[in-house]
Amino acid sequence: MLFKNISLIIIDLAYHIFIKQILFLFDPEFAQKIIGRSLNLPFIPWKSVGYLLNVEDGKLFTPYFDFYIANPVGLAAGFDKDSDYLPATTNFGFGYITVGTVTLKKQSGNEKPRLYRLRKDSSLINSLGFPSIGIDDFIINLKKYKEYAKTTFLTISITGVSIEQIVDSYKLLNPYCDAIEINISSPNTNQLKIFHDKKQLLNLLNEVNKYKTTPIIIKLPPYLTSQINDSSHLLDEKENILTLIEQCLNSKVDGFTISNSRPIPTKRLEAGKGGITGKVLYEGTLEMVQDLRLFIGKDPVINACGGITNGSQAWDLINCGATTVQLYTSLIYSGITIPNKINKYLLKKLQHHDVNNFVDLMKND
Ligand SMILES: Cc1cc2nc3c(=O)[nH]c(=O)nc-3n(C[C@H](O)[C@H](O)[C@H](O)COP(=O)(O)O)c2cc1C
Repeated sequence: MLFKNISLIIIDLAYHIFIKQILFLFDPEFAQKIIGRSLNLPFIPWKSVGYLLNVEDGKLFTPYFDFYIANPVGLAAGFDKDSDYLPATTNFGFGYITVGTVTLKKQSGNEKPRLYRLRKDSSLINSLGFPSIGIDDFIINLKKYKEYAKTTFLTISITGVSIEQIVDSYKLLNPYCDAIEINISSPNTNQLKIFHDKKQLLNLLNEVNKYKTTPIIIKLPPYLTSQINDSSHLLDEKENILTLIEQCLNSKVDGFTISNSRPIPTKRLEAGKGGITGKVLYEGTLEMVQDLRLFIGKDPVINACGGITNGSQAWDLINCGATTVQLYTSLIYSGITIPNKINKYLLKKLQHHDVNNFVDLMKND
């Protein structure tokens, strides 16, 4: 135990004093590339790192669709877009991993610059627009890393600008994962908004349902999808999203990820706008989880996503109705010990509230 704790402190210090300082000297997209390359270095003993980072305690087992996952903390879509880092990420201590978003055909995404950091807010702003190696190469990676994918619940995030594209992606990827997340919420691809229309969403889900063998998760946009200062607009936005959710429930969607990055205008990106992620999203995530759980009832899965940086937020979200929490930006700002810290905090909270385990906590909701 002492050895593990000291090792975790060393990993943390190494990240904050050394690795992050160097990475943050570079353009953020280039820094992401360096991170990606480093994660694939053959000499890093990821299994041993996993031994340090995994919080192995049956109390954290969480019912998730028809499975139990090792803990309720997941990796959000976008960190491993090409499914290329599974040997590393499956050892970060997450209960599940989301890979993608992958597009049917290879595409390069939006013009650069398309990613920057807001360090004082621990946030990122991106307008990547789905750079993707395409499904064929994505499947090659999944096959290459299939032994790793077996060890952790794997969700694949897909998208497309037509029903055919999404259905084709769903059919091709179904055999390689435990769940599929359909991203209809990226702020960086205008055509995605077609699925914010109730009828289009219904048509999409009807088609996907014909081939359904794995749970379907819909990733929704946050309430504030545009710069709105007027509260009547906000109410409209809420209502729109609740209408979409109603449609999803009628179409037997199994879960929701709420939510994606929040759109903002910015001159620093070539596209003139982007999606903000990180700390600033947390309050909105909490509000949406509360609303959604009231609205959808007990069963469908809710993955809370947006601005989660610590265990206390994760605990609050789960107690407000989230089944799991997932994160991306805090991995960049806090390093790979973040799932470990959140899970340890959750264990302490269970003990403090005299709850045996997460299965019991979920039952009591
Ligand atoms: C650089 C970057 C790329 C992202 N790419 C995707 C993506 O491909 N698909 C997706 O559904 N979400 C993507 N996201 C959004 C995240 O999955 C998540 O919804 C968002 O970052 C909010 O969570 P966070 O505050 O923990 O980062 C991306 C986020 C960032 C910062």
